[in-house]
Amino acid sequence: MGLLDKLFGDKKETKKMENVKLAVIYYSSTGTNYQMAQWAEEGATEAGAETKLLKVPEIAPQAAIDSNPAWKEHLEATKNVPEVSLDDLEWADAIIFSMPTRFGNLPAQMKQFLDTTGGLWFEGKLANKVVSGMASANNPHGGQEATVKNLYTTMMHWGAIVAAPGYTDEVAFTSGGNPYGTSVTVDQDGNMVENNIDKAVKHQAKRTATIASWVKQGLQQ
Ligand SMILES: Cc1cc2nc3c(=O)[nH]c(=O)nc-3n(C[C@H](O)[C@H](O)[C@H](O)COP(=O)(O)O)c2cc1C
Repeated sequence: MGLLDKLFGDKKETKKMENVKLAVIYYSSTGTNYQMAQWAEEGATEAGAETKLLKVPEIAPQAAIDSNPAWKEHLEATKNVPEVSLDDLEWADAIIFSMPTRFGNLPAQMKQFLDTTGGLWFEGKLANKVVSGMASANNPHGGQEATVKNLYTTMMHWGAIVAAPGYTDEVAFTSGGNPYGTSVTVDQDGNMVENNIDKAVKHQAKRTATIASWVKQGLQQ
């Protein structure tokens, strides 16, 4: 096996998923993370997983939403996206989270949802979920990495298995190179600055689903 093969991973990743159920759970105020979540769902579906695209509930005061037309518009445009429930977490073998940074941390909306998972955690029902995270910020170093790593702290408490993308595909080198999870910089017009984010997200989704299939097969033996 050559160096590139070693770097860019095991080609077993191209094998079909073994009935993997994958939930993409996101929060987005102005659409960036909704787009990333959609790409993740597409990538996991293409890889053969059964998927669900789910948003966490909005908890911001209506006055705050009304003060930002892009926020208000996005919530209206996505009103039919189903909200995540605890049953969805039980259902999923794998979960991909996507969220904007809030001062280097998770948005309260995502944190609020995670803070409702204590019961499942207590019953051991979150252990061995295969997870990965994605994030966005306005600045290139505005807290994307910290946000993903803060998500992973909670995931480690769950006993989840973090399937970070690392540098397992060449696309990492043209899409910002965040090994913790795909992340983007959003400019003032709401555009993603980096190239190939769709490809990076799809690679991450495929990798998360693949690792989940390995874990699921192992648990069934
Ligand atoms: C309260 C708040 C805090 C934010 N903190 C940061 C920050 O620390 N660094 C940064 O670059 N962007 C920051 N942002 C910008 C958001 O991360 C950006 O709007 C988001 O990534 C866009 O994603 P979305 O379109 O999915 O909502 C902040 C935005 C808000 C509302």
